[in-house]
Amino acid sequence: MSIRKPAFPRLLLNNVSCMRNAQQILSYVNVSLHDGGALVLTGANGSGKTTFMRMLAGFSRPSAGEILWNGHDIQKSLIFQQYKLQLNWVSLKKAINEKFTVLENIQWFELLEGKQGKAMLALEVMGLGRLAKEKPRMLSSGQQRRLQLARLLAIDRPIWLLDEPSVALDDEGVKLLEYIIAEHRKQGGIVIVATHLPIEIEDSMVLKLPPRFPRGMTFADMLDRIDIS
Ligand SMILES: Nc1ncnc2c1ncn2[C@@H]1O[C@H](COP(=O)(O)OP(=O)(O)OP(=O)(O)O)[C@@H](O)[C@H]1O
Ligand SMILES: [Mg+2]
Repeated sequence: MSIRKPAFPRLLLNNVSCMRNAQQILSYVNVSLHDGGALVLTGANGSGKTTFMRMLAGFSRPSAGEILWNGHDIQKSLIFQQYKLQLNWVSLKKAINEKFTVLENIQWFELLEGKQGKAMLALEVMGLGRLAKEKPRMLSSGQQRRLQLARLLAIDRPIWLLDEPSVALDDEGVKLLEYIIAEHRKQGGIVIVATHLPIEIEDSMVLKLPPRFPRGMTFADMLDRIDIS
């Protein structure tokens, strides 16, 4: 009888801490993600969600602990070269080239990736097919967000890092986002989402980051205390 060793998680954060601007932002985070897994990061403004994403994307290094991809430390340069090709990132930064048309904005990423052919379909899935020939300045905020999300579909990368992906989306846009996340996971992709807004993601792990400072009294608290009777 052969005993099968459990597969390594695709991504493992082992007691990871992270500093930013000489301050400890994340402390001793442990997360394990297999193919098809999803992690939702929540927490107050400033609690470290974007810092977490930036660290996973390799923009900043853990100050303690390690991030393992297929069991290998992503800090090692040869590993990082392969690891970064697994990532697809959407953040509040627009990353849209105003000189290109909507379609060319997606084709540009396909070109960088050395692949072609999915750009128009990606736009259609996100409900932007009819705007393909327009310049991005013709798009509303929610349509620009859909354009960013279309990029996820056009290039084939298994690990999605989504920082506030539903900001500016209408109800249908949020449904589409939930749909593409579910489809990506069915194909074995991993999704890590930081969000303040509710996004339905089945069987996801939730990591609520603690506030960095004890919360003082806010204007909203003061209003609560005012007796208006
Ligand atoms: N560019 C920066 N340089 C130095 N420190 C920063 C910078 N951006 C954020 N920080 C600090 O890092 C902490 C974590 O910020 P981060 O952006 O990760 O929080 P967040 O959870 O994503 O917040 P939000 O919900 O507002 O997006 C903040 O408290 C802030 O003080
Ligand atoms: Mg943030």
